[in-house]
Amino acid sequence: MCGIVGYIGDEQAAPILLDGLSKLEYRGYDSAGLAVYDGEKIEIEKMPGRLRGLIDITHDGEKMPGTVGIGHTRWATHGDPTVENAHPQYNKDKTIAVVHNGIIENFQKIREFLEEKGYQFRSETDTECIAHLLDYYYEGDPLEAIVKTMYRLEGSYALCILFAKHPDQVFAVRKDSPMVIGRGKEGEGNFVASDVPAILKYTRQVYYIDNEEIAVLSRDSIQFFNLDMEPIQKELHTIDWDMNAAEKGGYEFFMMKEISEQPKVIRRTIEPHIKDNEVVFDELKMTDEELAKLERIHIAACGSAYHVGMIAKYVIEGMARVPVEVDLASEFRYRNPIYSENEIVLLISQSGETADTLAALKQAKEHGILTVAVVNAVGSSMTREADRTIYTVAGPEISVATTKAYSAQLVIMYLLAMKLARVKGTISTKEYLGYQHDLLQLPQQAEMVLNNQTRIQKFANRYIAAKDVFFIGRGIDYAIAVEGALKLKEISYIHAEAYAAGELKHGTISLIEKGTLVNAVVTQEDLYEKTISNIVEVRSRGAFVMAITNADHADMENTADYVIYIPKTNPYFTGSLAILPLQLFAYYVSAGKGFDVDHPRNLAKSVTVE
Ligand code: G6P
Repeated sequence: MCGIVGYIGDEQAAPILLDGLSKLEYRGYDSAGLAVYDGEKIEIEKMPGRLRGLIDITHDGEKMPGTVGIGHTRWATHGDPTVENAHPQYNKDKTIAVVHNGIIENFQKIREFLEEKGYQFRSETDTECIAHLLDYYYEGDPLEAIVKTMYRLEGSYALCILFAKHPDQVFAVRKDSPMVIGRGKEGEGNFVASDVPAILKYTRQVYYIDNEEIAVLSRDSIQFFNLDMEPIQKELHTIDWDMNAAEKGGYEFFMMKEISEQPKVIRRTIEPHIKDNEVVFDELKMTDEELAKLERIHIAACGSAYHVGMIAKYVIEGMARVPVEVDLASEFRYRNPIYSENEIVLLISQSGETADTLAALKQAKEHGILTVAVVNAVGSSMTREADRTIYTVAGPEISVATTKAYSAQLVIMYLLAMKLARVKGTISTKEYLGYQHDLLQLPQQAEMVLNNQTRIQKFANRYIAAKDVFFIGRGIDYAIAVEGALKLKEISYIHAEAYAAGELKHGTISLIEKGTLVNAVVTQEDLYEKTISNIVEVRSRGAFVMAITNADHADMENTADYVIYIPKTNPYFTGSLAILPLQLFAYYVSAGKGFDVDHPRNLAKSVTVE
């Protein structure tokens, strides 16, 4: 989604801003722009399309001299991706330039107010009203104008602002949209970014600016203020992860790199949570007695993280007999959930910034329910808002379609289920140790599946031109089918639907025609026979069926048209292996069609608007 970079120092700003924006490209955007103070005035260049266009028209930034500037990649919300709607937005005489992530909910009202005062609008964006509002309130003190503007804005925003009359300062503020401030080494200037990778090449020292705080950056200082314009102290953090982890390392696309990293990620996620044959979750800060009292878990998440929640329901309820309710975060927050004592809300999110999940978190907190965030991005908003954070240690995930973070989230759910089952005594010690054993085998088994991808690649090549693909399964296999379908539609733009296999005959089976591809996930031993009969149903209507299975069941070869085998594991954990061929299938279809696999159209990695 939208990206922000800001710089003030002694170097030329534009090349630094363009470089920073290129590190945020993976988040998804459809236009880009820069504003640089050239010694006399603010120069602005912006255009729809890829960042490459902006790099070309500015000759790698050389055509925009100046050592203070702000940059933006925009993912259109209000108005199409046009030059007018791209950021930076500015006031009437271009003395104030603003870049904005987030959505201003009351922008229509503000726009009417400003139009009455004679302000003329040139874009359809909500951001333009911020530039004019700053202009309206500016009477010589930029900080005061910013604070007064913030009082008027409803919604979410991270803003980076230039005032031509204060060319030795860059201003940054945020509310419910992420932003970090980077402190350069002495003499190397200071930075603003909506996401750490944008500035990691220049500094590892960052401040996390909190809601409704203002940062004022000059070449050699960074000051923070609250809404009362009082100075505040902030803690400096050191980023200890490596940008190499975010480089492609020889792969054509990040997605393939990230798919391949999954065995390692699964291992890395399990390791810190098993000590002396016991599952541990120190970060929950709960005693076994407290955990044993848990009576219900609410899970709220979006996209693939929601699909992890679907599997968590089967696993936690199955192992630990604790009821689990799973909701899309965008629904959860509006359905007025019923909470009781001894319950927790679990938020699952790769980015830790997804607006709906964050809102669900805040709402649960308002009800006094303990919130636990399962998050991949270190220092993200959810980690700061939640009562407890469990980190998945997948490392930076760049491809928009998630793979390794999804796998890490699944593992955390298995471990949680085991921990709860242990403290509640719903499984025997033998079963508990059996689960641990099976879990520890998963990385190696995942490697086996990934080492054997030629068959799935060949199969994907045959279906590049498919129009509709159906995915079916029962129980955990159904949840995997849903994720498999999402992967395919996200990156190949093929219509893909997942159905609980038993539900097909209640409508969807009418869509099956000769040659329709149906991908069946068949890993739950007690459901083999049932799913096999559903495969027979669709094949007899002309479907071509690929089965992903761990069954050494002669019926499978005789029933499906094409079989992909995965190793056997505990039925609770099969999702971690069954998803791999489906990720590969989606990848090869997308790459085969010549698409930009990592940057699917219309999608964003981190969805910071509701
Ligand atoms: C976007 C991404 C999905 C992701 C979802 C939730 O839609 O494209 O891949 O699953 O957001 O993101 P989160 O960061 O909260 O896991």
